[in-house]
Amino acid sequence: MVNVQCSMEKMKVLIATEKPFSGVAVKGIKEVFDAAGYEVALLEKYTEKAQLLDAVKDADALIIRSDKVDAEVLDAAKQLKIVVRAGAGYDNIDLAAATAHNVVAMNTPGQNANSVAELVFGLLVYVKRNFFNGTSGTELKAKRLGILAFGAVGRNVARIAKGFDMEVLAYDAYCPADVIEAAGVKAVGSAAELFEQSDIVSLHIPATAETKQSIGRELVSKLPKGGILVNTARKEVINEPELLALLAEREDLKYVTDIKPDADADFAQFEGRYFTTPKKMGAQTSEANVNAGIAAAHQIVDFIEKGVTKFQVNK
Ligand code: 3PG
Repeated sequence: MVNVQCSMEKMKVLIATEKPFSGVAVKGIKEVFDAAGYEVALLEKYTEKAQLLDAVKDADALIIRSDKVDAEVLDAAKQLKIVVRAGAGYDNIDLAAATAHNVVAMNTPGQNANSVAELVFGLLVYVKRNFFNGTSGTELKAKRLGILAFGAVGRNVARIAKGFDMEVLAYDAYCPADVIEAAGVKAVGSAAELFEQSDIVSLHIPATAETKQSIGRELVSKLPKGGILVNTARKEVINEPELLALLAEREDLKYVTDIKPDADADFAQFEGRYFTTPKKMGAQTSEANVNAGIAAAHQIVDFIEKGVTKFQVNK
């Protein structure tokens, strides 16, 4: 249990976002903290870790996006009581170190899910229409879309896919088949079956010890002819050498992502079959920034004032 210290001094919140929130989101976040009587500092577009180490020194609370919070950052943050990742994946926080430093870590699940899901279809239309190069492409209608992991993003992808009249399948090791079926989606028994039975597979798994490097030759080679892999999850889940080798062997396969692979230069040789956005941008909408940022702000105030730990991830 983390002790929330009482003090006459104002609570100080640092918003540290290498990739900034929209202005409207920052304004909304500040309003929540103004109402609570907290001070807010903003560190955006920082380029050196040293800037974060310096800025976090006197922070009682921290809001981040994909910014890395490791033991060094926690060592520097002597006053820190809570860090909230405004978003879903919290693989950028060293949870054990947070616990060791008596810091509560939280995420804001679901708040940016629609934004990520919409981008999946942006990427898919773009690749299906041959990157808008003027040649005849193909449609999404009646194609089989396999969703790997049926969390908040996966569910939004399923909802939108139905609007495209796609056939939707899903597999989630931690979500029972009846829950998937209740959403009007065909549940399959394994990731291997999902790749076998889908024209397109969209990844929505977190980066964990279990999932890192898990998407490689064994699974992707099961995609039928003309298969497309779309990744708006994490680059770490891809076994890049294996995917590169497979793309070289199978000229029908395509890979589209908003998370630039480490081997981007090698993937780039597959012109017309590979696309990455320059920056991770699934959650880069004003709405997602507002939803996740303001949720993070409320979670901080609720924790500091009332000890609410509902979204704690380092229990
Ligand atoms: C998430 O985990 O919430 C998404 O990947 C968004 O990440 P971002 O805040 O860095 O855009």
